[in-house]
Amino acid sequence: MSIVITGANGKLGSLILKQLLQKVSSDQIVACVRDLEKAKDLLEQGIEVRLCDYDKPETLDQAFAGASKLLLISSSNQDDTIRLRQHAHVIEAAKKSQVGQLLFTSFAFPEHDSISTSHLYMATEHAILTTGIPYTFLRNSLYTDFVGVLGLNAAIDTGELRISPGEWSFNTVTREDLAKGIAAVLAEGDHQNKTYELTASRPWTFDDLAAALSEMSGKPIVLREDADIQNWIYGFLRKINTTSTSTDLEKLIGGPVTPLKESIKPFITTI
Ligand SMILES: NC(=O)c1ccc[n+]([C@@H]2O[C@H](COP(=O)([O-])OP(=O)(O)OC[C@H]3O[C@@H](n4cnc5c(N)ncnc54)[C@H](OP(=O)(O)O)[C@@H]3O)[C@@H](O)[C@H]2O)c1
Repeated sequence: MSIVITGANGKLGSLILKQLLQKVSSDQIVACVRDLEKAKDLLEQGIEVRLCDYDKPETLDQAFAGASKLLLISSSNQDDTIRLRQHAHVIEAAKKSQVGQLLFTSFAFPEHDSISTSHLYMATEHAILTTGIPYTFLRNSLYTDFVGVLGLNAAIDTGELRISPGEWSFNTVTREDLAKGIAAVLAEGDHQNKTYELTASRPWTFDDLAAALSEMSGKPIVLREDADIQNWIYGFLRKINTTSTSTDLEKLIGGPVTPLKESIKPFITTI
C-alpha cells in the first residue's frame, strides 16, 4: 500500500503527514512536492519524496506511480482558471497511473456559493468523477484562521469587537482538525465513493467569539455592529456557506473538534 500526498510541503499537507505517521509506517507514504530542497525533513523521517508540479504534467506520472491512494491537495494558485487546469493535469495523470483511489481536499457545502473558487472545487470533483477512479471528496470548511483578519487584538485593546451587521454563524474548524480527519480517511480501508463535509458539528457565533476573547483577556469585550466597517472578509463570507454543519469530521476524528478559545489562540498577540 502506498499513500501519495501532493502539496506535502504546505501547511495542511505537513499536518496531514504528521497525523498519518501516527497511524501508518513511513515506508507506506510518498510525499509529492514542488521543491525537493524544502522536503529534507520528510526524507529524514523515512518518507519517500517525489517531485510533483501541477504545471508540469511530465512530473506527475512518476510521482503517482504505484499509488493505492492519491490525495490531491488543492492548488494554492490565486487564479481559479489556472487551478482548474492544474487539477486536470493531476487527474489525468492519476488515471494514467491507475491509482487505486483519488482523494481531494474540496470545499464544504459549495453548491450555492457565489465565488469562482467554489465552482473550481465542484468542477474538480466532477472531473474526478469522469475518471471512474474510486474517489473521496474531503470538503474542508473555511479554516478558522479567518479570525486573524477580524481585529481580535484591537478588540482586546478597546473592549469592542467591531463586526458587520448580520446573522452570522460559522462552521469553521482548524487545519489541525481537518488534518486529523483526512489522515484517518487515508489510513483506514474504506471511504470509497464518499463525500465528507468536514465542518464543525455546531456553528459558533460572534457572541461566542466575544465571550472567548473576554475569558482569555480577563476583561469584558462587547460586540459592536458597524455598517461602515471596511473589511474585505465580510464580502467574502457573505458569498459562501458558513452556516451548514455536519458531524462527518467528529465521526472521523472520534471526538469533538478543537474549542473556539483554543483555535483562536495563535491569533492573539496582545496577552
Ligand atoms: N479551507 C480554507 O479555508 C482554505 C484556505 C486557504 C487555502 N485553501 C486551499 O487548501 C489548500 C491547502 O491549504 P494550505 O493551508 O496547506 O496551503 P499552503 O500552505 O499554501 O499549501 C499549498 C500547497 O500546494 C502546493 N502547490 C501550489 N502550487 C503547486 C503546483 N503548481 N504544483 C504542485 N504543488 C503546488 C504548494 O507547494 P509549495 O510548498 O512548493 O509552495 C503547497 O505545498 C490550498 O492550496 C488551497 O487550495 C483552503
